[in-house]
Amino acid sequence: MRADRPSSTATLIAAATVLLARDPRLRHLVPAGAAEICARCLTRPWLMATQMRWLVRAAERATIPGLMLHFMLRKRWIEAAVRGALGRGCRQVVVLGAGFDTLAARLAPQFPAVRFLEIDHPATQAVKRAAVERRNLPQVPSFVAADLARTSLGDALAASPYDRNRASVFVIEGLLMYLTPDEMAALFAAIGELQPRAGELVFTVMEPRRDGRLAFHNATWVERALLALWKEPFKSAVSRDALPGRLGGWGLRLRELADLAAAHPDLVLARGEIIVHAARSP
Ligand SMILES: C[S@@+](CC[C@H](N)C(=O)[O-])C[C@H]1O[C@@H](n2cnc3c(N)ncnc32)[C@H](O)[C@@H]1O
Repeated sequence: MRADRPSSTATLIAAATVLLARDPRLRHLVPAGAAEICARCLTRPWLMATQMRWLVRAAERATIPGLMLHFMLRKRWIEAAVRGALGRGCRQVVVLGAGFDTLAARLAPQFPAVRFLEIDHPATQAVKRAAVERRNLPQVPSFVAADLARTSLGDALAASPYDRNRASVFVIEGLLMYLTPDEMAALFAAIGELQPRAGELVFTVMEPRRDGRLAFHNATWVERALLALWKEPFKSAVSRDALPGRLGGWGLRLRELADLAAAHPDLVLARGEIIVHAARSP
C-alpha cells in the first residue's frame, strides 16, 4: 500500500461501479447515486470512455474473471446486512478502509439519526472526501484519516464523533487481506473495546487456496504481478471452517456467511472471498 497516492484497488472498484452503471444488462445492480460519487473519485476518468471499456473488460478476463460483478454483488449483500443492523437499532456505522465505497455517503442522508464514519489512508480519503462533499448534502459521513497498520483503531477514533455507548455496526470490506494475521487480530480486539455493549460486524475475508497462496482462487498470474506492482499484496486469509473459532475468540458469533460464487453458479464471478455478518455475543 503506497501512502502517497490513492489506493489502486479502491480506484479499480470505483471504476467497476462506473462501468457497470453504464452496462444496460447490469446497471440495475448499481445503487442510485453510487456511480456519480465513484466517477468523481477517478483521477483518470478518460479510462471510462466508451472506447476504453472493451480494454477494461479484457483486463478483467486476463486477471480475475468476474471481479467487477463480484464487487457489486458484495456491496449489495453488505448494504442489506447494514440496513438490517439499522433496523435492529444500530445507531452508528463505521466503515474501515472505506476507499471509494459509497454506502455511508448514500445512507447518511436517509438515516439522519445515525452516525456514519469512514476511516482510510489519508491519500485515498482526501479524494473521496472532496467527491462526497461536492454533492452538498446536509448529512455526510465523518472522515477519519489513519493507517490502521500503524495506528490503533481506538487512537484513530479518539478524536472522532464515535460514541461507545451507541450500538454500532463496523463494515470491513476488502481490507483484511492487506493486514497480517496479527494486525487483523489487533483490529478485532480494538473493535471489541469500541463495542462494549451490542454490536455487529460485516466483513469480507479471503479463504486460502488449496496450494496455500493468498489470492482470488481464479486469479491469473497477471493479477498477482499487478498486486505486487501496486504494492498491495494479500497478507492474510481465514477458511470458513476456522471462522467460528476465530469469531468466538473475538467475542463474536456468526449471523450469516455468503459465498457469492457458490450462491450464483450461473454467473462468472471471482472466487475465494467470503462475506461474514457477525454479532457480538451477549
Ligand atoms: C480494496 S480497497 C477496498 C475499498 C472499499 N472498502 C471497497 O470495498 O470498495 C482497500 C482499501 O483499504 C484501504 N487500506 C488498506 N490498508 C490500509 C491501512 N493499513 N489503513 C487504512 N486503510 C487501509 C485502502 O486505502 C483502500 O481504500
